Amino acid sequence: MKNKRPSFIAVIDFGSQYTHLILRNLRELGVPAQLLAPKVNTKILNQAAGIILSGGPQSVIKNAMPFNSAVLKLPLPILGICYGLQLLANELGGQVTPGKIREYGLATLHIKKTSLLFAGIPKASQVWMSHGDSVTKLPPNFVAMGTTPALPYATVEHRTKPIYGLQFHPEVNHTTYGKNILKNFVFNICQLKPTVQKSWLTKISAQIKKQVGNKKVFLLVSGGVDSTVAFALLNKILGAPRVIGFHIDTGLMRLQESKLVNRALRQAGFKNLHIINANKIFFSKLKNITKPEVKRKIIGQTFLLVKKQAEQKLKLTTKEWLMGQGTIYPDTIESGGTKNADKIKTHHNRIGALVKMAEKGLLVEPLQELYKDEVRKLGLNLGLPKELIKTHPFPGPALGVRVLCLDNKTASRLNNKNRTITSVDYSNRILPILSVGVQGDERSYRQPLAISAPLNKIHSLHCLATKILNKHHNINRVLLAISGNNINLGASRAAYITPTRIALLRKIDNLVTQELKKSGMYYKIWQCPTVLIPFGTKHKESVVLRPFASREAMTGRAYILPIKIINKIVNKIRALNKVDYIFYDLTDKPPGTIEWE
Ligand code: XMP
Repeated sequence: MKNKRPSFIAVIDFGSQYTHLILRNLRELGVPAQLLAPKVNTKILNQAAGIILSGGPQSVIKNAMPFNSAVLKLPLPILGICYGLQLLANELGGQVTPGKIREYGLATLHIKKTSLLFAGIPKASQVWMSHGDSVTKLPPNFVAMGTTPALPYATVEHRTKPIYGLQFHPEVNHTTYGKNILKNFVFNICQLKPTVQKSWLTKISAQIKKQVGNKKVFLLVSGGVDSTVAFALLNKILGAPRVIGFHIDTGLMRLQESKLVNRALRQAGFKNLHIINANKIFFSKLKNITKPEVKRKIIGQTFLLVKKQAEQKLKLTTKEWLMGQGTIYPDTIESGGTKNADKIKTHHNRIGALVKMAEKGLLVEPLQELYKDEVRKLGLNLGLPKELIKTHPFPGPALGVRVLCLDNKTASRLNNKNRTITSVDYSNRILPILSVGVQGDERSYRQPLAISAPLNKIHSLHCLATKILNKHHNINRVLLAISGNNINLGASRAAYITPTRIALLRKIDNLVTQELKKSGMYYKIWQCPTVLIPFGTKHKESVVLRPFASREAMTGRAYILPIKIINKIVNKIRALNKVDYIFYDLTDKPPGTIEWE
């Protein structure tokens, strides 16, 4: 028997990369939500007003996640998203088929019938898909409510019960009316009322005071948005004498970066920052390493080693000092850090030793629930200068994950493959290199397809890229070759992280950034990684430009810069006479990740 008004939405987490975005949307709507495991005891759901079944990397027919199916018998509204929809179909007597229709990225949803869930939403709208399996037969009493060109059951609902399913993800901002759908579910269907939420600053201040007690915190400060905001926050809450920042110059930073970080933070009034030069040790630990995950782990471990040496030098004891990090939510989820999520990549601040420290309460991570755009708002509230806050995100492993490496064996294996995709109308080649991506919530490590076509076709090729990637699962990116000879002449070679390669990438990265700033494009885009790849003819090095648009880095689209600016960038890079080809990455996320490794 329920004795209180239902008060929250239960989000059952099957491990999707986007589950936390559901919670974030609900938070923004002023609705309390709880993340629960698939084997949840139904007693916990007594006070729930409705249930959302998240997406996930598994397949309900091949390796379904153990689930308490009694949940589906509760007299509560249910919304199944992606895997959640497939689970409903599978459990309630429908059919799910693997791999028949796979979709990653944008699709157009056509609503066939009006319903409470789609109240006030146009008949045709943009939605975001990321699935390998799909529902091929509906369970009894279910009806199809909306379709996409590829999918007859893009949204379904029960004839009489408040049970709904969506194959697309309403929680990502590329689904134009996603938030309205969630709003309709929680307010119209579950009949919750919005409540006022406490501000992040209030919540985080209380958490930090409680965790730190009378200890002190030292924090690794890269100078990027997250660590800078975390540093400012700790200074404000604990007071400068109880905080020390270490900035480690790994040798993998951008041009002049450590100098600029030092200057900017001093100008912002912080005097408790130490700069540590650790170039030598990072390069020596990364010698001969090629695999992205190994690189990431080594970089994470080396950070810890250098930090330890600095601690000893400054005589900071663990009795007195806790370690702090600017970890934000996507770092955790993409490192496979929630119970059911697949590991896409290990962020340097999520390696095993650190996760263990976090479990013991020895790690202070004030921003761990937030997304980048929320961190930025918080930073502005704290009075940090705009230039620091608006700077593009930059990965902790820095240029180390933007310089692709290959060993001899892999290079020759890939060179010998030399395949094309004949159904693509343009001349193309599957390049003999590998990069990381995310498809249907799972990590991929595959080759990209490079297309040769005139630059003025770039917009239509961006649309084509999504279609190609949905059809061909042996590749995970599509690139346009924008400069260089016939792509069939190039080959890849064995290459590692060396000071020379990093110096070249640093120079090109700086060229691109300066050009973006000059043209006013810098603040219009989320990020623009420049990637060095060991592929080519004469120099055996090439460059990939990756301008990208996103709101919180969980999903996003390749950003097509004005052709004039692309040409300017290309000319500047060509003038260096150090690379053979320049490519433009046309891959959205999913199926690509923003970074290449
Ligand atoms: P991906 O490549 O996974 O990146 O689409 C999502 C966002 O996170 C940044 N990124 C990192 N940030 N440590 C960080 O602090 C890391 O190890 C790391 N790897 C990726 C990436 O630049 C993008 O903004």
